[in-house]
Amino acid sequence: MQSDIRTIFWEDNTVVMIDQNALPHEERYLRFTDYKDVVAAIKDLTIRGAPAIGVAAALGIALGTLKLSPSSKEDLKTTFYEICEEFSGTRPTARNLFWAIERMKKRFEEVLLSNPDQIKKALVEEAIRICEEDIAINQRIGINGRSMIRDGDNILTHCNAGALATAGCGTALGVIRAACEEGKKIHIFVDETRPVLQGARLTAWELCKENIPATLIADNMAGFVMKQGKINKVIVGADRIAANGDAANKIGTYSLAVLAKEHDIPFYVAAPLSTIDISIQSGDDIPIEERNGEEITTIRGVKVAPEGINVYNPAFDVTPHRYITAIITEAGVALPPYQESIAKLKT
Ligand code: MRU
Repeated sequence: MQSDIRTIFWEDNTVVMIDQNALPHEERYLRFTDYKDVVAAIKDLTIRGAPAIGVAAALGIALGTLKLSPSSKEDLKTTFYEICEEFSGTRPTARNLFWAIERMKKRFEEVLLSNPDQIKKALVEEAIRICEEDIAINQRIGINGRSMIRDGDNILTHCNAGALATAGCGTALGVIRAACEEGKKIHIFVDETRPVLQGARLTAWELCKENIPATLIADNMAGFVMKQGKINKVIVGADRIAANGDAANKIGTYSLAVLAKEHDIPFYVAAPLSTIDISIQSGDDIPIEERNGEEITTIRGVKVAPEGINVYNPAFDVTPHRYITAIITEAGVALPPYQESIAKLKT
């Protein structure tokens, strides 16, 4: 399955990414020559979605190291680790971020005995490999997940787990794209996903662009639409999945899972193995990012709340594994009990 959308790539020793803050009004690409701007782009959601964040960090680390003129190997090493540290501080919930940084560190240590130019080349190659692997992983997730989809399904998705959240065709939307490619006639309900509207702006844009039938709803409509019998499946992505299958994803996912259970609707999570963090036993230990309150007091820059109101803005919530019907990965589909099925997939 393909997507025409190129979210992030390496070109002529620069990092290029689509500006997700400009979508859906403007399809514009930004070219980065300074890794610090890539750090800022991850923080301000120019690029977002756990797998895409991982790819951005890998390419950003390669870019930062490429530009260095170290006085010694020690100097190169110190600065490389400082760059990695800056990327680590961007989005705490996204497991793929830390996974990608670990991959870059591992590669750095492997080639440490080479000369600086060779080290830089190896890091660029590793980052491009991470990017290309993500494309292939998304395709495998699509293939593994498409058998869960039936002709005539009405599927609800939340946030954006599409091409824009990865380097490829997406995780949740990768499954949806794969089902469409098989000729299945399906329809997608898109949650708008407050506070920053990844559903309304990004998922809706992707689906419209590819003529996949879709209907946008406000987040607070999901329960009513389920009760009306208009939704028969939910598929979402994940930012971090614990060893027991508890899954962190965009705030609002947990409420959907509870609603899905009440209405007897299967609830699927689609994610690469790099999102699964077996060092974390349960969702209680997944770090949850809190973002600026302005995301709530404003909508796309327009103030909607009075000055001085207190705001709480957790960017993610955790869906306990008991609400999850299956976890679709590139290595296969994990079913409950997740402790065992995840461990098997991860080996
Ligand atoms: O804050 P965001 O936009 O980075 O949140 C993204 C999500 O919650 C996605 O569902 C998740 O990263 C999976 S993307 C394949």
